[in-house]
Amino acid sequence: MKEIKAIIDNNRKWVETKLAEDSEYFNKMAKGQKPKYLFIGCSDSRVPASAITGTGPGEMFVHRNIANLVVHSDMNLLAVLQYAVEVLEVEDIMVVGHYGCGGVAAAASNKQYGLIDNWLTHIKDVVRLHETEFLRIRDKEQQLRRLVELNVIEQVRNLASTNIIQNALKGSKPPRLHGLVYDIRDGLLHDLEVQTNTLDEFMHIYGVEAAEHAKEVAEDIQDGKVPQAQSPENSENKPARKLKKDDEPSLMHKAGQPLQVS
Ligand code: CO
Repeated sequence: MKEIKAIIDNNRKWVETKLAEDSEYFNKMAKGQKPKYLFIGCSDSRVPASAITGTGPGEMFVHRNIANLVVHSDMNLLAVLQYAVEVLEVEDIMVVGHYGCGGVAAAASNKQYGLIDNWLTHIKDVVRLHETEFLRIRDKEQQLRRLVELNVIEQVRNLASTNIIQNALKGSKPPRLHGLVYDIRDGLLHDLEVQTNTLDEFMHIYGVEAAEHAKEVAEDIQDGKVPQAQSPENSENKPARKLKKDDEPSLMHKAGQPLQVS
């Protein structure tokens, strides 16, 4: 009880301070929000979204989970993303990782931690995609620091492949995507300069039809015109892009060019 009383006391002091600065502060806040940023960060208590970005209430929409993952089937993340993009119309979306991330360290080990192992498997996938580069780093701490960066880069890619972002990028106010890493040891945020066109060469895999088409299909279904699946014989489906001889076999980007993911 003592601990929660301290929280309530702190809150009362904060209210007093805010009102002393601006007696209309809370009335203004109550009118609504129009944040410009969406922050997707780690739940780690040492990475407070507002404090490290110098933003105040009303300025940043926030989603946090262990190891700042963008998982395509995470309804929580998808709901936050859709609301931020389509309703709030945020201008910048940042995935913010941090060096010294316990989730990343746990994923890099082969220890079992329980239910969370299944969440952390998404980071093991990042290791698999970049294994050549990862194994080349001999120093354990440097390896983990690089994995934190690679994880952020892959989460930006995951963002870019959602239909929410694909639709938004075709709209009139496309949000900018960023990958940042926060260093707990000195408090500095670093921009990994992840290219937002990072998935362009893979759109034959990740690309989804425009929202207009989805609407037409929905209307057809409503009108009883259910689209028929094409049989292989009459299918005229062709690969969107023919493979070339020197194509990269996987998403893995070249070692030695760590931040060039486009
Ligand atoms: Co973390």
